[in-house]
Amino acid sequence: MGNWVLRGWEKRTPGDGEGGPGAWGIWEQESGREKGDKEGGRGIWAQGTGKGLRLDSSLASPLIPWLRGRAGTLQENLDRKLFGQHLVSKVVVKAVKGFLNNENAKKPLTLSLHGWTGTGKNFVSKIIAESIYKKGLKSKYVHQFVATLHFPHAQDINIYKDQLQSWIRGNVSICPRSLFIFDEMDKMHAGLIDSIKPFLDYYELLDGVSYRKAIFIFLSNAGAEKITELALDFWRNGRAREDIELTDIQNALSVSVFNNKNSGFWHSTLIDKNLIDYFVPFLPLEYKHVKMCVRVEIKSRGYTVDEDILTRIADEMTYFPREERIYSDKGCKTVDAKLDYYYDF
Ligand SMILES: Nc1ncnc2c1ncn2[C@@H]1O[C@H](COP(=O)(O)OP(=O)(O)OP(=O)(O)O)[C@@H](O)[C@H]1O
Ligand SMILES: [Mg+2]
Repeated sequence: MGNWVLRGWEKRTPGDGEGGPGAWGIWEQESGREKGDKEGGRGIWAQGTGKGLRLDSSLASPLIPWLRGRAGTLQENLDRKLFGQHLVSKVVVKAVKGFLNNENAKKPLTLSLHGWTGTGKNFVSKIIAESIYKKGLKSKYVHQFVATLHFPHAQDINIYKDQLQSWIRGNVSICPRSLFIFDEMDKMHAGLIDSIKPFLDYYELLDGVSYRKAIFIFLSNAGAEKITELALDFWRNGRAREDIELTDIQNALSVSVFNNKNSGFWHSTLIDKNLIDYFVPFLPLEYKHVKMCVRVEIKSRGYTVDEDILTRIADEMTYFPREERIYSDKGCKTVDAKLDYYYDF
């Protein structure tokens, strides 16, 4: 069966013979003709509740092949797979679930994930994608941009701006529930990201396209020092990491990202105009979290966990600051490569 693409919406009233009232998506198989009652085949209809998709409906999943339809999996997966990031879980679940369940969102959802290397930013965007789309990151409605790969040359910034705008416009017209991930924001040329500002703003329609169901996620290391400073502060004062609250960090984070020439958001109107809904801070990972990552990796390869090897690998990682040695330099990155060495039999 080919992929199903959303072609438009149709209002239905009770008695139409095809489900209840509300807005129903008209779906078309990419290579095939439009399916509809008239042609004899049953159309694939996405049940809405008047203004759009209802993702949490248990009906949604079988009716819309590419949508998972159970935002509940997000919480479960974050709880189970993500270590040491209590703030992330809280904000991401609240933001994403709230947005998916809101029929009247006034703007697309914009999340900016910040933190030290290897602390789980790509990992979380993958979990978010998997909670919304059956194919996760591989879904054709999920678009990842990597600054150094897709926008490498400063002199081509105007071309990139045009390309980026038409890519987003084109894809949101095909599927309003599209996800755009911008990786390596801190390596993005200042100004490029501002070209997508109109899409993130509070417009009902722009040239006939509504962006209000789209999700934009930005990933960067910008602000990592600020986050680490805060975590260290708690640690030095004998306070639990889990007691760090979002309010302790969010404002400082947005200001430091705005004023950081290498953040991709330097003096960006996205921040200026409050178009980023959530700044999500990733805390630096401790020794115990590294161990948890190693354990997961060993199990995922089907090996039995050898506590000795597990400890040796965690010990091999380097930790900072120099005196206390609390946080892993590379987070949980490179754990898998180290495992190759020990389990290479
Ligand atoms: N908090 C975490 N909990 C569980 N696993 C993690 C966590 N952080 C990282 N990992 C593991 O380490 C791998 C690398 O992390 P990831 O690519 O998400 O880091 P990142 O924050 O995007 O780093 P960078 O800033 O260098 O891009 C993940 O695929 C995951 O397996
Ligand atoms: Mg990353």
